Order: sequence, then C-alpha cells, then structure tokens
Amino acid sequence: MAIKSMEQRIEELKKKRQRVMEGGGADKLEKHRGQGKLTARERIDTLVDAGSFMETGCFAQHRAVMFGMAGKETAADGVVTGSAAIHGRLVHVASQDFTVLGGSAGELHSTKVAEAMMQSLKTGSPFVFVNDSGGARVQEGIDSLSGYGKVFYTNVMLSGAVPQVSLICGPCAGGAAYSPALTDFIIQTRKAQMFITGPQVIKQVTGETVTADELGGPDAHMAKSGVIHFIAEDDKEAILICQKLLSFLPSNNLEDPPELTGEYNCDPDLALNDIVPVDGKKAYDVRDVILRIIDNGDFLEVQAGHAPNIVIGFARVCGRSVGIIANQPAYQAGVLDIDASSKAARFIRFCNAFNVPLVTLVDVPGFLPGVEQEYGGIIRHGAKMLFAYSAATVPKVTVILRKAYGGAYLAMCCKDLGADKTFAWPTAEIAVMGAEGAAEIVFRKEISEAEDKKAKRAEMIDQYREAFSNPYVAAGRRLVDDIIEPSETRKVIAQALEYLHTKRELRPGKKHGLMPL
Ligand code: HXC
Repeated sequence: MAIKSMEQRIEELKKKRQRVMEGGGADKLEKHRGQGKLTARERIDTLVDAGSFMETGCFAQHRAVMFGMAGKETAADGVVTGSAAIHGRLVHVASQDFTVLGGSAGELHSTKVAEAMMQSLKTGSPFVFVNDSGGARVQEGIDSLSGYGKVFYTNVMLSGAVPQVSLICGPCAGGAAYSPALTDFIIQTRKAQMFITGPQVIKQVTGETVTADELGGPDAHMAKSGVIHFIAEDDKEAILICQKLLSFLPSNNLEDPPELTGEYNCDPDLALNDIVPVDGKKAYDVRDVILRIIDNGDFLEVQAGHAPNIVIGFARVCGRSVGIIANQPAYQAGVLDIDASSKAARFIRFCNAFNVPLVTLVDVPGFLPGVEQEYGGIIRHGAKMLFAYSAATVPKVTVILRKAYGGAYLAMCCKDLGADKTFAWPTAEIAVMGAEGAAEIVFRKEISEAEDKKAKRAEMIDQYREAFSNPYVAAGRRLVDDIIEPSETRKVIAQALEYLHTKRELRPGKKHGLMPL
C-alpha cells in the first residue's frame, strides 16, 4: 500500500474532524434543534468568548464491543470538552451531546469529563458542565459506572478550590444527577428533568403516579426539593445566568473576586428611611432595601423560588462582590425554618470558600415553632447557620433593620458569631423574644392578678418594649458597633468592606469541622 502523502493525511484529518462536528448526524441534530434546544457545540459557542474554545479529546472513542457497539462511531464519545474563556477569564467546560447515544456516559465519555475537571483544578479556573444525557451508557455496563465514579471523585477534588456550575439542559437521570449535586450551582432549563428514579420505576415500586415534569422539572426542584439554584426558560437564558454568576466570583479559592473600578455614589438615600414600617407587624419586601444599597440595583438572587422567607444572592457594593443574606418579612414574617436555614447556610459556606464577603440584613422574629419543624430537625438544620457563620472567615458585615429576636438573632451573624462590623437602624429591636411574649412570661402574675387584665398586659408589654426592644441596650453592651440612619446604609457597608478588605483570620488546624449535616 502506498504511503499517504501529507495532503491526503490532512484531507483525512479534515474529514474525520468534520464527522465529529456532525455529532450523531444531521437527522438527530435536526430533531434536537426542533425541540428548541441548542446542540452541545452550540451551547459551548454561546457560553464562551468567540474563538476562545480549544477542544480536547474530539477523537475519543469508546472501546465497547457488546450489544451492537463494535465498530460503532460515537462522535467525541458523546461529550465535547475543552478550555475557553468567558469574558476573558479561563474556564473549562464539558457539554454532553444528546445526539450521540442520548449523551449517555460511557467509560471514555466520563474520563474526558474528569480530565477537563482536572484541568480546571490545575489551572485554578471554574468548571462548567452542561448536562443532557440518558445516564450511564447501558451497553458499557460497569465501565460506565466506573466512569461516573471518577467524575464524582473529581467533583469533590474541585469542591471549594474552583467554582463548579452545572447546567441541566435535557434529561439528567439516575446517577447522572449526582455530579450536578456535587457542584456549587445548578441551573435547570424548562426543557430538562432531573431524578434518581423516573416515573415508571416509581410506579412499579411505590405505586405513585407522577409525570416526569412534576417529578423532576425545574419548579419541583426549586420549590420542593431545593436541589437547583436557578430556573432558565431555555438554553440561552441558562448560559446568561452562568456567565453572570461567574462574573461575581474569583476563578479559584486563592483569588479575591474581581473588583469593578468606577465612580460610585454613596450619598444618603432618603428613600431607605421609609421602606421598613416602624410597626413590627407590618410586612415589606426586603429586596427593596437590597436594591438600594447595591450597585445599579444589580442583584443575582439565588434560589429565589425556594424558602422565600430568606433572600440570598450576589451583588456588588462600590465594585466589590458580596453575598447578601436577608430575612424576608414579606413571607412568613421572615421566620427561620428548616429550608431557610439550609438554603442560607450553604450559601454562606460557598461565599466563605471563595472569599466573597457576607452582608447580612436582619429582620427576624425567630425560628419557626411547630411539631413538623421539630420532627424535621430544626435543631440540626438551624445549627447549620450558626456553624456556617461562625466558621466563615471572610469579612462579615451585619445590619439589623428591625426585629432580631432570640436564637434567630444569633443565627443571623451577630457579633458573637464573629461579625466584624455590626450596625443597627433606630427601628432595631434586639431582644430575647418579642415584647408580647416576653411580657406574658415575666409579668404573668401581675397580669393575672390585675383587675383590668387587658390594660395591665398592654402596660407590661410597653414596659418591656421600652426596656429592651430598641438598639440602645445592645449598643451599650457593644453587641452593635453603631446605630445608623437607614439612608447611610450603603455608605456604611461600603466603608466597612473597604476597611475589612485585608482581613485575615486563622483558625485551629484540623482536618475539617463537623457541620451538622
Ligand atoms: C445508552 C441510551 C441511553 C443510555 C438513551 N439512549 N439513554 N443509550 N444508554 N442510558 C439512547 C437511546 O437508545 C436512543 O438511541 C437515543 O439515546 C435517544 O434516546 P430516546 O429514548 O430516543 O430519546 P427520548 O425519547 O428523548 O428519551 C430520552 C430519555 C430515554 C428519557 C433519556 O432515552 C431514557 O429513559 N433513557 C434511559 C434513562 C435511564 O434509565 N438511565 C439510567 C441509566 S442507569 P437511538 O440509537 O435509538 O437514537 C444509571 C445509573 C448510574 O444512570 C448510577 C451511577 C451512580
């Protein structure tokens, strides 16, 4: 056989590459696009800076021979991986190709994903995994399970070292759901479903009837399970959310988040004086406060549809990224319950791992009482907040807007949990409990013996409120550093963050603390 010339070899290379670019073939790509989805390669092209993508492993092939796999070509083995830039910053990506055997994960497929992840770790750059897969490649049996094992292990290697973001753009079934679960943020589109066992298996095992969307659609995973962090209408929106999320974050745990330079206005904002009603029974939307203290009202709320009694998200104050945690009096008076505690604690841990300062806005009546909450483990889950805030060594700035009662006051990053700067508005009520409840306990005898019990109760409530339901007692004990006018809040937070920028705090050496999981 004649030796092929360079020209022939280049021609062969081009043809082979072209075949890989065609994924599972024109028909399958057409069908995929017909469902309103971008293809695996289009998703990467939309996510990263134009021309920045350097693919690795495009000629990877499975080596299975059973169940019709012998000689079967699987373009890039069903996953496109490589290095690229998003807004000029290095990232590593993997994007599953549903047109190739349903994006199923075989041995080589998962090895490629794990290798891209290791590149993230070695170069200190975020990892973005676009999921669209029928799960473990059934034809490859335990080799595909082994592949998943490598991916999970590598997810854990990366955890806390580089940010990991999962986009769920199609099916994500069985073990496939556990890689996203090990990442920091999950963005799910309305065309995607995630579950460990699907509707048919559930029907067989428990007899329950449920549709795939009811079980694993984005609404279920936002409101009920709390598994995901963002809902996107489609692939393009998921990609925009991912880009925006990464813009607030450093590339790795050894860097600070990128700081945006510019001219920032910190003049008094008188509108802040009127948002929070002085009557503690009246509700308001804490997001109205957040939007006025951050730059350009630009707030990326995380898990907006889960446990709405607490609001968490990323923003900037005078160019500096912050993680905001705020009680939401517009929902259940902003009470802390199991879901709110878990939601906030996880976010606090993420911010601490990636050097994002914490700004906490407090208006909390307490932990939610109830048999369901106690049996559900509010003690264990509420303790996650105490643990996460106490363990956080990033700058911690707390502003008490109104109520700060009991254990929930402590759990919302009080001074004793290591808040570096604590401020209170004149409306703040820092107390062991609300005046009504306290008066019933402390003055029960006086009230029951009084001729006019109602008048006596009102008098005792007033007396207790006067004594404790204000910020001055706490300021007197140095539990708050200063009492500020609401209008000055943005300036005060900006200044505090500036002065805390160089904060360094060491903790005793140990393998790791034991957060109550
Ligand atoms: C191999 C698969 C596959 C899989 C889909 N395909 N899933 N091939 N292994 N896991 C193939 C199909 O055979 C088909 O090939 C092509 O992908 C497209 O699939 P369709 O079924 O035609 O697409 P659609 O109707 O859109 O349905 C998508 C789906 C369905 C809902 C994902 O394919 C499905 O239910 N797949 C199985 C899901 C599953 O049970 N996964 C769990 C695997 S076990 P052709 O050639 O016809 O186009 C697991 C355990 C891992 O994951 C545990 C790790 C800890």
